[in-house]
Amino acid sequence: MGTCDEEYDYLFKVVLTGDGGVGKKKKKMNLIREARALLEWSLQREASRLMRKQLRHRDGTRQGKSDSISILWRRWVFFANGERWRQLRRFTTLALRDLGMGKHEGQELIQAEARCLVEAFQGTEGRPFDPSLLLAQATSNVVCSLTFGLRFPYEDKEFQAVVRAAGGTLLGVSSRWGQTYEMFSWLLQPLPSSHRKRFLDHVSTLAAFAVQQVQRHRGSLDTSDPARDMVDAFLLKMAQEEQDPDTEFTEKNLLMTVIYLLFAGTVTVSSTVRYALLLQRVREELTRELGPGQAPGLGDRPRLPYTDAVLHEAQRLLALVPMGVPRALTKTTCFRGYTLPQGTEVFPLLGSVLNDPEVFEQPEEFNPGRFLDADGKFKKHEAFLPFSLGKRVCLGEGLARAELFLLFTAIVQAFSLESPCPLSALSLQPATSGLFNIPPAFQLQVRAL
Ligand code: HEM
Repeated sequence: MGTCDEEYDYLFKVVLTGDGGVGKKKKKMNLIREARALLEWSLQREASRLMRKQLRHRDGTRQGKSDSISILWRRWVFFANGERWRQLRRFTTLALRDLGMGKHEGQELIQAEARCLVEAFQGTEGRPFDPSLLLAQATSNVVCSLTFGLRFPYEDKEFQAVVRAAGGTLLGVSSRWGQTYEMFSWLLQPLPSSHRKRFLDHVSTLAAFAVQQVQRHRGSLDTSDPARDMVDAFLLKMAQEEQDPDTEFTEKNLLMTVIYLLFAGTVTVSSTVRYALLLQRVREELTRELGPGQAPGLGDRPRLPYTDAVLHEAQRLLALVPMGVPRALTKTTCFRGYTLPQGTEVFPLLGSVLNDPEVFEQPEEFNPGRFLDADGKFKKHEAFLPFSLGKRVCLGEGLARAELFLLFTAIVQAFSLESPCPLSALSLQPATSGLFNIPPAFQLQVRAL
């Protein structure tokens, strides 16, 4: 079914062929799918220059009808292409900045959430618990504050359901079913599937929550006041461009933007912090540099090179988005002597970059030392690309990096962390690996210091 062409030394080509008929039509279908993947990290930069001009995110160009999952996932979640993407990306970036991201206010927002999280951990009083939900609620609250101007108590059942739905969506697109569906949706769509139903239920829960929040904003919007949050900013922009028939600031794009922020803000950072907790050995440095009880700020990062190295190594080892986000060439392109036809799907394999043994010796090992120089100072690696690169680099990178540092250090500084099974004995392999690598679940026991 698949052939790997050896003559491509650093590009590989997978050709899938198959015949099949759907329903009564019994029409002979021939699926030829080419996927060329970029393997070497050094190629990524060269490729990224190309991507600026000639790659777009993949949308419904696949043979066969795109169905509701494809539409939700590709068009709603991974933003659009072309002018729509440009406008929404610029708007979202500026709005997040205006709301304090990358500034002191942003740091305070995350630190306040970190305090709530530490308090909730404290409430477990040494009993074993799975930290997944609380961590996801904390990161979701940061993004809910920015997007909807609200934070929710961790006990709030509706909020718990939304956070679980974000986790379920993550699992859905990363599971074996999700991957198979992604490749063969034209074939699988007519068949009944409990996976598909569950996945759509999760996405609907996220969407219903977003709709409810937008409606609440509509009722209380004051166009003469500055935006309180992302939804306000979008609604104000919609009002400004009301007369423009080509405006991208529409109800549908508002929902698309906030659902994606809610999803990305909930699942990405929390999975990474959870993974880093499996690996933490950084308290000594925190206590030495800051003293007990002093909450670290982003300005302390240079004084905490080992902590920074642990977080980088956790992100490298986890490779949260291992295949990157697939793109397609908008025109036939010559790349290092190979001709890549228009429409070729390109997977920027971030997982292979982050595990390249040429750059990261024994990449399967957790070794924060690779991010430290001989003097113990933090050392950058060009191949450290968990957020991808180029024009479509993760829009939330700044927010994610701030959250990772502040939440992780707050937990590690407040508690000694244990587990009914020794943390060092737990597997570091992702529990599920697909579009996302999802770290394994584990029970944590915290003791206040
Ligand atoms: C550890 C945390 C995170 C990682 C590793 C991560 C990684 C990524 C990656 C690999 C992409 C695809 C880039 C590409 O298309 O080449 C992406 C896109 C994106 N991410 Fe993140 N992400 C993280 C957290 C976040 C957060 C917290 C947010 C926002 C709240 C966010 C918002 C976005 C958006 C909006 C895009 C689409 C950008 C575009 O298409 O222009 N991400 N992220």
